[in-house]
Amino acid sequence: MGCAISGLAEKADLGEKSTHDAGGRGEHLRQDQIDMIKESWKVIRDDIAKVGIIVFVRLFETHPECKDVFFLFRDVKDLERLRTSRELRAHGLRVMSFIEKSVARLDQLDRLELLAMELGKSHYHYNAPPKYYSYVGAEFISAVQPILKDRWTAELEEAWKTMFQYVTCLMKQGYEEEDKQNQVAVSTKERVEKTNTAL
Ligand code: HEM
Repeated sequence: MGCAISGLAEKADLGEKSTHDAGGRGEHLRQDQIDMIKESWKVIRDDIAKVGIIVFVRLFETHPECKDVFFLFRDVKDLERLRTSRELRAHGLRVMSFIEKSVARLDQLDRLELLAMELGKSHYHYNAPPKYYSYVGAEFISAVQPILKDRWTAELEEAWKTMFQYVTCLMKQGYEEEDKQNQVAVSTKERVEKTNTAL
């Protein structure tokens, strides 16, 4: 089940700082990887507006089905126009600010867990299903490589990948919980309506 986080968070609470375990499906983020991510973020953050736009324009190029999820962009045919769109810039910044919060919370996994689960729940209401989430991490990684130039290493790539796997795994859990919750609410409503009609 899940993102293999609860027992691992406990371990961190016990003060085992050398292996801060964040990561889904058996992946673990070590303290040196967390430090690496934080260092690289200091460089990336100077360009977050640009990165946000690149990530989403590339996402729409490589996976056009994702564009349909966005009410504002679904009818835009010329993706080049999106590069200067104020709305896409604002959206990209919202996503980047979430990544910033996630990086800051790599030392407080319980808080990061809540944040990412809540985000997954809101994505249920945006009709953005989990099968698309991993694309964002992949596009983020290719967008930041040229910014970090020779500071980019295979180890750093691995660390970012693990962080994205972890966050998107939690988002998926949040999405599925919200889905279940809504199905229960719908079937309860249907039952009440049937009972009322029968009375
Ligand atoms: C790692 C993956 C992703 C992250 C971290 C992320 C993050 C966010 C954040 C922070 C927001 C702002 C609103 C809120 O906090 O609820 C948002 C909104 C939204 N996201 Fe995502 N998102 C991801 C993937 C996706 C994908 C793949 C899609 C579509 C296929 C999508 C569609 C949307 C939509 C439609 C909104 C609402 C419109 C808006 O705020 O501009 N998201 N996302």
